[in-house]
Amino acid sequence: MKRMRTQVGIVGAGPAGLVLSHLLHLSGIDSIVVENRSRDYVIGRVRAGVLEQGTVDLLVKNGLGERLLREGLRHGAIQLCFHGRRHRIDFDALTPGRAITVYGQNELVTDLIAARRASGRPVYFEVENVRVEDFDSDPRIRFRFENQEHEIACDFIAGCDGSHGVCRPSIPAETLRIFERDYPFAWLGILAAAAPSSDELVYALHERGFALFSMRSPSVTRLYLQCSPDEDVEAWSDERIWDELAARFENGDGWLPRRGAILQKGITGMRSVVVEPMRRGRLFLAGDAAHIVPPTGAKGLNLAVSDVSLLARAIAAYYHEGREDLLNTYSDECLRRVWRVQRFSGWMTSLLHRSSDEFDYRRQLAELDYVTSSRAAMTSLAENYTGL
Ligand code: FAD
Ligand code: PHB
Repeated sequence: MKRMRTQVGIVGAGPAGLVLSHLLHLSGIDSIVVENRSRDYVIGRVRAGVLEQGTVDLLVKNGLGERLLREGLRHGAIQLCFHGRRHRIDFDALTPGRAITVYGQNELVTDLIAARRASGRPVYFEVENVRVEDFDSDPRIRFRFENQEHEIACDFIAGCDGSHGVCRPSIPAETLRIFERDYPFAWLGILAAAAPSSDELVYALHERGFALFSMRSPSVTRLYLQCSPDEDVEAWSDERIWDELAARFENGDGWLPRRGAILQKGITGMRSVVVEPMRRGRLFLAGDAAHIVPPTGAKGLNLAVSDVSLLARAIAAYYHEGREDLLNTYSDECLRRVWRVQRFSGWMTSLLHRSSDEFDYRRQLAELDYVTSSRAAMTSLAENYTGL
């Protein structure tokens, strides 16, 4: 058995765990990160792409902005497409100074792993059988690495291990409340080797269902189609995907996504989950380990970053000022934002996804009509989308 000691043991090297490890490092606090996947797998996972203004500001302020500012695509608007028309929600006019930045989660995680390497502090990839124990008194993380048992003794454990991790299930179920909602649809997502045919994201509601146009770089387009949760991805040939996208983005001006080779396709289910509280003793949950939002609001990664920025501040106050108050208010502070984001993401989801109910569809079109014609309604969308 190899024994180690650190101040904060971090489970999960996704955005939450890696941003936390970086912020703690900048405050002079030691941590060890353990991750059960390989470095390449963690980097290669195709997921989020939209960063809120506050997320970008935080990353830049903490020295993670170099490539983000150079290669990230700043967007001052999004578009809503419905009933054969496209409308702009102009953030620059509605929420001056606040925009979104398109920067793939892959790129962000690449930068974060490089920053971690540069700090000289450890990340263990491809660990097995991770357990978190004794977090009410004397926290330990145990795991297998290179065929040897390891034990990390620490002051705090940060459970940043996503929605299928081990930290949350290790907390006695009777001490948690879990709020959940399933949605009756999923997204079929593709990455295509095609230059984006619009500089802005396009969210579409069509009689045939929702579609989303996004991008990753000047040569890669990212697209999503509403489908059923039990959809078989094999039933979607490349041609069928492009034809369906063309049908759903149909609008008066003839704009369509540019076609290209499909590099990757996958189905993502949609769920809302909130775990309360986000703490048990000296174990703190952050990011997807504590909450999941449907992707229509583009918020999951942003929430994860927001959680760990509060957690890093609370842990720094504990070590540097002997204060526990921020640790004690961590969960409530995070949850306030989490529920506001659940509200917004749920609203975007119900606004833009098609059910079989014709009454609902008419109501959605009326709501989109209102949202694209009332400055108050547009401002509300812009405020929430660029980040509260
Ligand atoms: P994760 O990224 O899930 O990281 C958790 C890490 O823990 C993983 O690396 C995992 O391998 C590791 N782990 C799990 N179990 C263990 C274990 N037992 N031991 C050790 N390690 C473990 N969000 C946005 O903000 N904007 C978007 O545009 C957006 N689009 C999305 C599109 C899609 C298709 C999907 C699926 C998600 C999207 N999201 C978006 C959500 C976003 O990707 C997640 O919210 C974000 O990844 C959460 O980060 P995290 O670090 O909390 O969790
Ligand atoms: C993405 O680019 O992957 C993306 C953009 C907006 C969303 C969700 C995902 O709402």
